[in-house]
This record gives sequence, C-alpha cells and structure tokens, in this order.
Amino acid sequence: MHDTVIRNGTVVTPEYTFEGDVGIDDGTITSIGRPHELAGEAVQDATGQLVFPGFVDSHVHVNLALGEFTTNDSFAAATAAAARGGTTTIVPFAIPDADESLLDAFERRQAEAAGNAYVDYGLHGCVTRASERALSELPHLIDRGAASIKLFTVYRDRLMLTHGEIRDVFEVVAAHGGLCLVHAEDEAIIAHLIDRQKRHGVLDYSVHGTTHPDVSESTAMWTIADLVGETCCPTFFVHVSTGRARQVLESAQRRNLPLLAETCPHYLTLTEDVYDRRDGERFVCSPPVRDVTSRDALWSMLDDGLLQTVNSDHCGYDTEQKRRHRGDVTRMPNGLPGVETRNTVLYSEGVTTGRLSLSEFVRLTSTNIARMLGLYPRKGSVAIGSDADLVVFDPDAEWTVDGSTLQQASDYSPFDGFEVRGRPRVTLVRGEPIVEEGTLVGAPDHGAFLPTSGVDALDLFSRWPRP
Ligand code: URP
Ligand code: ZN
Ligand code: ZN
Repeated sequence: MHDTVIRNGTVVTPEYTFEGDVGIDDGTITSIGRPHELAGEAVQDATGQLVFPGFVDSHVHVNLALGEFTTNDSFAAATAAAARGGTTTIVPFAIPDADESLLDAFERRQAEAAGNAYVDYGLHGCVTRASERALSELPHLIDRGAASIKLFTVYRDRLMLTHGEIRDVFEVVAAHGGLCLVHAEDEAIIAHLIDRQKRHGVLDYSVHGTTHPDVSESTAMWTIADLVGETCCPTFFVHVSTGRARQVLESAQRRNLPLLAETCPHYLTLTEDVYDRRDGERFVCSPPVRDVTSRDALWSMLDDGLLQTVNSDHCGYDTEQKRRHRGDVTRMPNGLPGVETRNTVLYSEGVTTGRLSLSEFVRLTSTNIARMLGLYPRKGSVAIGSDADLVVFDPDAEWTVDGSTLQQASDYSPFDGFEVRGRPRVTLVRGEPIVEEGTLVGAPDHGAFLPTSGVDALDLFSRWPRP
C-alpha cells in the first residue's frame, strides 16, 4: 500500500507516454504500474488526465530591484503562482546590491526564501562587477550550490559587465565546474539608438523594439559564443528572441561549444505589433518581442534542438508601474509576468497545435532544465527514485487568460485574452498536494532549497535526451 497513488493517468516522461499508475512513498516515486494496479492510502484519480513531471522554471525574478522599480513577487507569491501553473521548482537570482559580496547576496536570498516557498527552489549567483573579490568568491558560491552564474551585457551602471570582465568570469567558472547564464544584447548599439531617439524627441514605449533591434542581440551572442569557444565555459543564453540566433547556435553546435539556450512563451506567441497598441507599455521587456519571422524561427529552433528550454523570465510588474514612464522607454521597468502561465501557454500553442509532442514539451519545460542544473533525475522525470513532483493536467480544459484572476503578483498578463487549452488541476511537490483543483492548499514552508551543480562541458551535449 503506497502513501499516495496517482491512478490511471496518461503519464508523460521525457521519452515515453503511457497509461498507468504512479505510486508515491515519503515524497518519492516508488513504483509505476499498469492502470488500476497500485493501491494507495490516498488516491488521486487521473482518468482522462495527463501526468507530467513537475515543471522547472530556471528564469524567475523574485523581488528584483532595478532602478526605480522592484518586482512585486515575494518568494511566497512567486512560488504560489508557480505551483498553480504546475511548476514545482523555480530558480531565481541572487543579484548583489552595490558593494555587496556575492556570498552575502546568496545568504540574503536564502534567508528571504527559507520558510516562504510553496515549491522547491534553487538560486543563480550573479556577477555585476568582476572585481578580484567577486572572482575569488565564485568557487565558494559554486560549492555552496549556486553553480549557475548570471551575467548581463546590458543595464549599464548596475548589472552590465564588459566583454573583458565576462572573459574573466568565464575562466573562473569553467575552472570550477560551474555554468554561466548570459543576457546577450549589445549595450552600445542600444545606447546609440536611444540617443538618436532623444534627438528626435520620441522616446515612448513604441520605440522599444526599434531601439533594441535583432542585430543588437545577435551581435552580443556572437561575441559571447567566441568567448565560450576560448574559455570552454558552459554557457546558457537566456531569453533568445530573434531568428538571427539560428546562425549563432548552429555555428556553436558545429564547433561543439558547450552553449545552450532558452526562449520564452512571449517570444513564441507575441509579435512586435504589441508596441503599436495603446497599452503597449505592458509588453516592454528586454529583448523585445520581435516580428513574425523571428517568432516562427524560434519554433523551428525548438524543433531542431537549437533551443533546449522554455522558461518564463517572470518579472512581475503591474499596470501602474508599467504606465508610470510610458513616455520614456529608458525609465520604464522591463519584464513581463509569466511564471503561472508558461506551461499552459506552451502546451496550448505547442502541443495542441501539433508543433510539440508531449515528451518534447516535458523536455523543454522540465527535463532539460533539471539536467542543465544538475537536478536530474531527482527532478525532471516521472521515474522510480525521482522526487514525487507531479502535475495532473487536464488537457481539455478551455479557458481565457485573465491576468487579474491569476495568483502571480501582477494585475495583468501579456497573454490576456488568449483562449487556451489545458490547465494544471493538481500539483504535488515531493508527494504533498500544493494545488488541488486550481486552489492553493500547500504550506508556505514546504519548499526546500536545491543546491545546483555544474555540468561537464565536454559531456554536455551527450546528456541531452534525443527524441
Ligand atoms: O525585460 C526583462 N527580461 N526583464 C527582466 C530582467 C532580465 O533582463 O531578464
Ligand atoms: Zn535578461
Ligand atoms: Zn530575466
């Protein structure tokens, strides 16, 4: 008799889909059986439902303070929203304040999260100045379980590193078995175009796309790829938005570089005409959403394995914050809320349209992210011995996204009005129900810290599960 059985669902793993039961004991998956084969003290009927491994979102901003604005989600709010969307692990960032050490930032974020998380969480480290102190802390940060280090090529005076600094960080991270995450846009091109707009006296949100063009992203990606080639530092491009990325990523694969990449639901589903809308400021994010050609190219890059993950880049501002400087794009908060909608939007636009198989969907939203951060097979699959992080997902639920009704700490969603299919009904984290029938039932101290570990650059590609 198991503690819990998820009965008679369609179980989706990174490799297979089959009808069956999943048995859980002490928070771990202990058996997988034929339909109705297993007995449990608690039984969750999953007839007609999909049973996914808990989704992992490695790009979630929690209490991000940048310029005048701080995002609205606390750890409790972001993890509650994640759970409602079927995400059982999030990985926010430990960005040091000015003059704060990397390790102090990591401890501060650990303290913020402890006892305030409905789902499990890791932390990315972050270097905003490649000082001697920062470089000397990196090995310790990696040892303590923040093996992925975020670097920015933009946001001058706060987060941006020069190419020389990035090269220094890559050398240290590569030598200590870590992984770098890079926001790649060319600050000089953007600054030049912003200056031109200033001279023309037009700086409102409608120029966001044209002042952050595709070429500023691809130029930065080429440079980063070359630095990866030189240092052999395993590196992950966050939020790839442009079709121009294909050439960079194909070249990286030909050169066997340890380079991986994510895109996000907004780049797969929205196009640049959002910046012509009267509420266009709500869609300001960096990089911006692009044209139809880029949107379609991203889908084909998912198909070709050039992009291995889809994360939300959740960044929860509300309408008032977005509106405050809508006339001056240089002062607007960048970023879109999305931790709660990522899985449904990708399922609806990807699986129900036939672009993605169920197992591909699982690899993009769970398995590959867990692998990249050394969390697999504890996370990222439905397998004996894995944590019982499971999502019972209704594939036929039809609903219209309305950000004002979501748990995430924003009053809107960039997907407002999308008519979607599919919805998580039940979310379990290590066997505990956190969401039942869409309602949060878990405890805010259930989530635990997950130390991440780096990847072996030479082994990286051979680890990806192939279709
Ligand atoms: O516009 C965005 N993406 N804001 C969040 C911070 C970042 O650059 O990822
Ligand atoms: Zn970014
Ligand atoms: Zn981000």
